[in-house]
Amino acid sequence: MAELSAFWDRLADKYAAQPIADEDAYRTKLARTQEHLTPEMEIFEFGCGTGGTAIAHAPHVRSVRAIDFSTRMLDMARQRAAEAGVDNVTFEQGDITSIAVEPGRYDMVLGLSILHLLKDRQAVIARVYEMLKPGGRFVSSTACLGDSMKWFGYVAPLGRALGLLPMLNVMTPDQLRADMIRTGFVIEHDWRPNPKSALFLIARKPD
Ligand SMILES: C[S@@+](CC[C@H](N)C(=O)[O-])C[C@H]1O[C@@H](n2cnc3c(N)ncnc32)[C@H](O)[C@@H]1O
Repeated sequence: MAELSAFWDRLADKYAAQPIADEDAYRTKLARTQEHLTPEMEIFEFGCGTGGTAIAHAPHVRSVRAIDFSTRMLDMARQRAAEAGVDNVTFEQGDITSIAVEPGRYDMVLGLSILHLLKDRQAVIARVYEMLKPGGRFVSSTACLGDSMKWFGYVAPLGRALGLLPMLNVMTPDQLRADMIRTGFVIEHDWRPNPKSALFLIARKPD
């Protein structure tokens, strides 16, 4: 974990300064997510980065617990929340692959731009399923490079060895959908603005 979180600590300031790649798509994803939020909900986000999404959803729910393993990302997230006057979000350091999971605890879990960064995404999807209440939703947005940029899968290990890239898992959209369904989720919303965009899924744990 230390080596991987150090990569994100180094990248944090640059990441925070970058504009959102597709602002319209991002706004649409926020809106689709907020259709499922109610004021009594407790939600969990992993890989929250500098906290923008957690802060955007906070006014629509009771509380947001957001984790990331990069302390630098979390410092920026806390500062942004304070500046926005948002006080129902907690930002904690934690690794989604090992953090204690409270079964059936959350109404919604968010994993945005992170599933492709995990060595064993299937295990994490199973953890998310366990954390959700029956009827709860898993909202994810994931770079799926396995169809349009399959070659990247061969380059990524070298980039990682040189410290230029994080851990990258190259998958196709269908592989990710199948992982969700195999875990027990029902995919309710499936959107990819264009063939190179991240795959946005809202998946529901059955009642
Ligand atoms: C590409 S950034 C995405 C940040 C944010 N979700 C967004 O959409 O802008 C990935 C984030 O996931 C964090 N991360 C990667 N692997 C993680 C893990 N196993 N547990 C917790 N955080 C992790 C990184 O530190 C980084 O902040």
